[in-house]
Amino acid sequence: MAEDKPVALEPRNEAADGRRYSPSTARNREPIRDVFAAQGLGTGRALEIASGTGEHGAFLTEQFPELRWTYSDIDADGRASQSAWKAAAGHDRLSGPLVIDASSDDWGNAEAGGWDLIVSMNMVHISPFAATEGLLRGAGRLLAPGGHLLLYGPYARNGEIAPSNAAFSESLKSRDAAWGVRDLDLELFPLASRAGLQLQAVTEMPANNLSVVFRRP
Ligand SMILES: C[S@@+](CC[C@H](N)C(=O)[O-])C[C@H]1O[C@@H](n2cnc3c(N)ncnc32)[C@H](O)[C@@H]1O
Repeated sequence: MAEDKPVALEPRNEAADGRRYSPSTARNREPIRDVFAAQGLGTGRALEIASGTGEHGAFLTEQFPELRWTYSDIDADGRASQSAWKAAAGHDRLSGPLVIDASSDDWGNAEAGGWDLIVSMNMVHISPFAATEGLLRGAGRLLAPGGHLLLYGPYARNGEIAPSNAAFSESLKSRDAAWGVRDLDLELFPLASRAGLQLQAVTEMPANNLSVVFRRP
């Protein structure tokens, strides 16, 4: 349902220490945790692109004690919330936030590479397509061999789109003409293939979202 999709303008609660909470994360964090478990993503070094409030990294590192997580975002308010989540964590496996614009081919300190996992949730449809192109290029450039890219969000499939996702896409486009729900098969798979990534799994998630896992051979 459209109201389950986080957008940049989604109302967010903020704790006194600066940690922000988004209603959609409370609903999707456990299904995403289950995908991490099923796809073997719960260990090693993860780089998150577009971390937003920072809640996913905090929750997933709590759930997976062998997971290390680096936050990043293009947005300073998001990075402030990510710093607050890092400060509040009862462990030292949260790092960053890095300043990363996914559309750029220079991801700063993340360029050292060797990442076991690159994660991006709910950015692809809420940014110009250049951010998705840069995200896939970055994953191809910076994942360790055997590393994974996880994308989470709403997608069309081969030209077909669920009515709730079509309505959501129209509402996004009315806010910014460069935003919109992308087609996994027609738009994302060609970028993944160009970046040398192989599809590992597509998992149906609540509210017509998908988790998509690619692997760098
Ligand atoms: C809807 S929020 C999603 C946040 C979080 N991943 C989640 O699922 O709750 C979209 C995020 O994408 C970030 N973003 C938009 N364009 C970006 C870009 N070109 N590079 C990096 N982050 C970007 C925004 O700053 C925002 O934090």
